[in-house]
Amino acid sequence: GSFVTVVALAIGGGFLWLWNDAEVSTVGEEQFDNELSIPPLAKSRVDKDGTRVFDLRMQAGEKEFEDGRKTPTWGFNGDYLGPTLRAERGEKVRVRIRNDLDEASTVHWHGMHLPAKMDGGPHQMIKPGGSWRPDWTVNQPASTLWYHPHPHGATEKHVQRGLAGMFLLDDKRSARLKLPKKYGVDDLPVIVQDVKFDGAKFDHGHEMMRNVGFLGDRTMVNGTLRPYQEVGDELVRLRLLNASTARTYDFGFPDDRSFSLVGTDGGLLEQPARMERVQLSPGERAEIVVRVEPGEKTVLRSFPQDNYGGSWQQRFSGGDDSFDVLELRAAKQLRASGDIPWRLGELEVPDGKNPARGRFFDLKQSGINGRAMEMDRIDETVTRGATETWTVRNNNGMPHNFHVHDVQFRVLKVNGEAPPPELRGAKDTVFLPSGTTMKLAMRFDGPADPDTPYMYHCHLLAHEDDGMMGQFVVVERGQSAGAPSGGRHDG
Ligand code: C2O
Ligand code: CU
Repeated sequence: GSFVTVVALAIGGGFLWLWNDAEVSTVGEEQFDNELSIPPLAKSRVDKDGTRVFDLRMQAGEKEFEDGRKTPTWGFNGDYLGPTLRAERGEKVRVRIRNDLDEASTVHWHGMHLPAKMDGGPHQMIKPGGSWRPDWTVNQPASTLWYHPHPHGATEKHVQRGLAGMFLLDDKRSARLKLPKKYGVDDLPVIVQDVKFDGAKFDHGHEMMRNVGFLGDRTMVNGTLRPYQEVGDELVRLRLLNASTARTYDFGFPDDRSFSLVGTDGGLLEQPARMERVQLSPGERAEIVVRVEPGEKTVLRSFPQDNYGGSWQQRFSGGDDSFDVLELRAAKQLRASGDIPWRLGELEVPDGKNPARGRFFDLKQSGINGRAMEMDRIDETVTRGATETWTVRNNNGMPHNFHVHDVQFRVLKVNGEAPPPELRGAKDTVFLPSGTTMKLAMRFDGPADPDTPYMYHCHLLAHEDDGMMGQFVVVERGQSAGAPSGGRHDG
């Protein structure tokens, strides 16, 4: 039965929360009857000067997720989501983007180190019918990055309609490593989104939960509902991306088997870490390698969050906050995978000793450090080449996370303690439940551009849209910030 309950919760000052506790999800009873769709690897060509060129077209369409009925969607080069871009460290890449939507948008390269004018933040708008051709040289370790729109005030809507895709980077070291690496076979992109349908149509409404944004009542992977994937290798690498707009997941398996965490947002860990759960808030990635037994079926599940001494998402959204995300069906005979290497990547994030300076960021839904985002206000000016420590605090009574453009950082401390394994690699986004303070170390390698800001923000997209975002520029020593322009382009 569906009924609306009004409950007052004494969270962070006694807001009045409304929730609809209609359906309870059916963990353990989910029928996985759709083969997982694997985003195609984007075609590219190499120019005379060696530049790898990709083409992306933002387009409106419709997709039949189930029931033979269709819902309007957006996608890159298709109806929903986008192809997987892939490039190597050292390569120059160019992406030729065309916006065939009837709204202006942008394309941001989440996790990528690149010049501010190429970043695809809210200053690099592409008008309807317009185009944009950013290029840059990839100079960072092998990693699982992603791309999505970033128009100020409308990011939640644009991502939710389907504009997102993966951007994988490789390097010499990762090419040699004995990790599963057959794309779509034993190395699977896993783009997780929560959704809600009203009949066949997407229901993107979140009036009841405005405080955290949209929370759906079921999940899909790569745009597939109730997905299964057949696997033929003993070890399966899952590149988990939380592309949801507000929901945090706590991934694991029903039998609590352990798996190896091999990578975080910005690339491979130095050593694999044995884990039973890995938590990802919106925008975060984790690469895990899991062992399957011949002939078995197992399920990647998201378990209820235990922050706030209970599941905050359950309180906000109803349901039991558990999701059966993806079924893995192992073949009766499996190809041997060998062991996971003991040494993986090399961390290139600074250790935070002797920082040039420290900064402090207080997260509130109303803004960061007491200010809501303004397109023409630069909030922070950093010197090219400087290592800084950023201390980020959430005591706002609700969950937030924190993402910084252009850099990967090291988590030095979580509430004064050493970080847990999933926060020991290179990160660009971290989850901060209320009551959390984190100290991060990052180096700003430029190039300097006093007029074009990068963003830092909460990646709960409704919060970001509402102004939980700030801007920083990278300048040469002694230079001051200019007036935000974002760089003109041919759009
Ligand atoms: Cu994934 Cu500023 O965003
Ligand atoms: Cu937030």
